[in-house]
Amino acid sequence: MDKVMARWIMAIAGCVVLAMSAMLIGQERPGRRGFRGMASISEGQPQAASEKEARILAVLGRLEASRAGMMNVPMRDGRLLRILAESISARQVVEIGTSNGYSGLWLCLALTATSGRLTTFEIDPTRAALARENFKAAGVDAMVSLIEGDAHQTLSQSVTGPVDLVFIDADKPGYLDYLQKVLPKVRPGGLIIGHNVTEGMVDPGYLKAITSDPSLETVLLPQDTSGISITLKKRLVDPNSR
Ligand SMILES: C[S@@+](CC[C@H](N)C(=O)[O-])C[C@H]1O[C@@H](n2cnc3c(N)ncnc32)[C@H](O)[C@@H]1O
Repeated sequence: MDKVMARWIMAIAGCVVLAMSAMLIGQERPGRRGFRGMASISEGQPQAASEKEARILAVLGRLEASRAGMMNVPMRDGRLLRILAESISARQVVEIGTSNGYSGLWLCLALTATSGRLTTFEIDPTRAALARENFKAAGVDAMVSLIEGDAHQTLSQSVTGPVDLVFIDADKPGYLDYLQKVLPKVRPGGLIIGHNVTEGMVDPGYLKAITSDPSLETVLLPQDTSGISITLKKRLVDPNSR
């Protein structure tokens, strides 16, 4: 074998070793580099932990199959609402925009655990009637007050604080008015959640109000949801108390 051939063989062997090393380094090592080979991940279907939950989830499952015209939040957003409400031990939740009760039922999953109450507002009598049926079928009608009519007119007199969590999902240009009416009743540490807070959908006045007030802290979760703003009403600590 002449010298040129030997150099070629050495060069090819070097490339093979390099390629194999790169493959080995890139291999999945759970706990160190993660499971990069997984195509997609999912939170799976909701699981009932009690008969009460099973009854609510059964109605939610039925509503999943008949969403047309109801403008319901996606299931993931509903699950998020439940997690937020339950994790702050919400006992008084206000929802503006009931539709047929879909998102309200997710909130009720939290409220059954916290012995809380939902006050929900709907202007459309047909949807309000459907919501009443669905709350009854799910066994949560006793913990829900459904206020029928224009929430701009009814909100202030129907809600007394302290409110733990507000979910705004009605007429988009109305969000700022709802916020102004309900914010004084939200307890420090409470949450205000806005749906469809996305470019082109959200009222700029609402966005400004939740992002520029120093007493509020807001994040926007636009990916994989329909655009949710989560706003915390901060606990303002008295500097003299430290
Ligand atoms: C997007 S849907 C609500 C969906 C519901 N949150 C769910 O996920 O199941 C908006 C609802 O707000 C109601 N709505 C609109 N303007 C309203 C107002 N001024 N007062 C009360 N409800 C209103 C509509 O009739 C509609 O049912």
